[in-house]
Amino acid sequence: MDIQKSPSNSPFVIAPSILSADFACLGKEVQEVLVAGADWIHFDVMDNHYVPNLTIGPLVCEAIRPHALKNGKPAMIDVHLMVEPVDRLVPDFAKAGANLISFHPEASPHVNRTLNLIRDQGCQAGLVFNPATPLDHLEHTLELLDLVLLMSVNPGFGGQSFIPSTLNKITQVRARLDRYQAETGRHIRLEVDGGIKVDNIAQIAQAGADTFVAGSAIFGQADYAAVIHAMRTELAGIGKA
Ligand code: DX5
Ligand code: ZN
Repeated sequence: MDIQKSPSNSPFVIAPSILSADFACLGKEVQEVLVAGADWIHFDVMDNHYVPNLTIGPLVCEAIRPHALKNGKPAMIDVHLMVEPVDRLVPDFAKAGANLISFHPEASPHVNRTLNLIRDQGCQAGLVFNPATPLDHLEHTLELLDLVLLMSVNPGFGGQSFIPSTLNKITQVRARLDRYQAETGRHIRLEVDGGIKVDNIAQIAQAGADTFVAGSAIFGQADYAAVIHAMRTELAGIGKA
């Protein structure tokens, strides 16, 4: 599959979380938000066990796959697994058309095995850190990662407020990823998830994030294109977009 990974003219990726979309017409919501300028679709999977909420699974991923098109090409479906255990669901999501699968290291007893499983299934792999989770797991996983996802809220619900201490963590991870890229030439994306709005996206990018999940900020407004355009204007203001 020839996947549209990021916009050709910007290092920044905007990934709307469909958690805040209208579930009664999800295919249409996915189409509309991509036409409105989004890059990826962020797909939040919650199991009422690892997090206290229950959302959507592989069948829904498969159902939206044909609707997730950007300029006629399949757009990235960025699956964020908030489930425990993790491994059993990985092949199901790969078959359902996920392109990138991220999970929380504390939800898998064998993090290296899970990362390899995701890659063996043909997907990109990401590791997710909750606000109070230390970054130790990065030391032994970087070569298997395509993305690091920093939670800027506690996972489980959309519409929460951005936790300001995430900014320091973003700066730390940025420095680590830049060092890794200088050593290996490999680029690993740094995604942030939770409470991202037009009025704080520039600060989050300035700290070092390049990929932004936004649920309520986009789907909570009638005009998705206007919100995404305002986010890109903010990003352009820091001189990188
Ligand atoms: C939270 C989810 C997020 C969430 C983001 O557990 O992982 O993706 O839906 O929603 P907002 O942008 O509303 O904070
Ligand atoms: Zn998420």
